[in-house]
Amino acid sequence: MNRSFDAPTLIAAKRDGHRLPDAAIDWLIDSYTAAEIAEEQMAALLMAIFLRGMDAEETARWTAAMIASGERMDFRELRRDGRRVPTVDKHSTGGVGDKITLPLVAVVAACGAAVPQASGRGLGHTGGTLDKLESIAGFDPVLPTARLREQLAEVGAAIFAAGALAPADAKLYALRDITATVESLPLIASSVMSKKLAEGTGALVLDVKVGSGAFMKSAGPARQLAELMIELGAAHGVPTRALLTDMNSPLGATVGNALEVAEALDVLAGGGPEDVVALTLALATEMLELAGLDDREPAATLADGTAMDAFAAMVAAQGGDLSVALPVAACSETVTAPRDGTMGEIDAMAVGMTAWRLGAGRSRPGERVQAGAGVRIHRRPGEPVSAGEALFTLYTDAPERFGPAHAELDGGYRILSGPDAAPVPRPLIIGAAP
Ligand code: URA
Repeated sequence: MNRSFDAPTLIAAKRDGHRLPDAAIDWLIDSYTAAEIAEEQMAALLMAIFLRGMDAEETARWTAAMIASGERMDFRELRRDGRRVPTVDKHSTGGVGDKITLPLVAVVAACGAAVPQASGRGLGHTGGTLDKLESIAGFDPVLPTARLREQLAEVGAAIFAAGALAPADAKLYALRDITATVESLPLIASSVMSKKLAEGTGALVLDVKVGSGAFMKSAGPARQLAELMIELGAAHGVPTRALLTDMNSPLGATVGNALEVAEALDVLAGGGPEDVVALTLALATEMLELAGLDDREPAATLADGTAMDAFAAMVAAQGGDLSVALPVAACSETVTAPRDGTMGEIDAMAVGMTAWRLGAGRSRPGERVQAGAGVRIHRRPGEPVSAGEALFTLYTDAPERFGPAHAELDGGYRILSGPDAAPVPRPLIIGAAP
């Protein structure tokens, strides 16, 4: 190991606004992955980076060091029946009710591409795809590389724990979650791109969330984040593009692990909420273009059941059994409308925090999440409500959680009244990059 560096000096350098030299970044990531830098030292460095930032070159080096901390897979030569199968993946920067990955991987697989999706668990108030999938009986997110390759060739989709890919990210991700250092452009970009570049996808589409329930609250920083990630992808030979999408209100009508799986199954059965369907198809279109399969019709796969078949095949290949009913929480409480009116905006952050308080997310690393906990939204923004009607149902296995959950939800929505009362509609897709 290079002994010419030490953590306190590098923390002080970043604290004082200096650039970290390339070799120092390599040393930091290597030493932290090998547990040779203490958690409190890395926590201090992360806070210094959060406050001082990293420039594009530092971020590129930090990302490359994170990729080098583990295995790097390569699926460019994936074949089915002797023919090359293009691989393409998508990653969302994290939102509330964001179950898009579940129908999306199935739609894209049904259109002929293969999706190797390394996924994470919940971070802060945002849900994690692996936590959602683990509410399906028997589903195993741990896939050895040889089985992953086989599954991609046979089924066209796999959603798996990053495991040996970018192990530095797994440690940093968990530390950021408990040190208020998540919302940092270089740290998000390097976290996302290290996993995605290590997983060996041939192309990548990013869903960069913007709004109250996202890590990026406004379009300017979100676009900067998108551009930074696109550059990192290009530097590693992976064509990357991004959609900027609204995350001021939750996506769909459910937030929470099993609740969201059920909604994803509705979409795969040809129904489901309009916004979930629209975003699934928009992202699928981008992915299929990058994969060179733009002659395919993603919407048809939802109508004709081929996307559902692809999802069922992926779940079965990973040990999951969709014939077992999804878990339902032991207790529920309903929030009703105090008067007639129109549902105004529903704040994604408030609903995300409500679901988290109910037990859908973690407050300590490694904690078990409740599969059935979460929120069902009965009236979406702009819909009429009558006094006494159900607006939200809250679910948990631990009734003592209802009090704090109601406190989060209380200020998160409004019933508008008067003949012209209606929230201003927001476009779901705000922009694209490049
Ligand atoms: N998703 C990630 O993988 N990492 C982040 O830092 C944020 C969202």
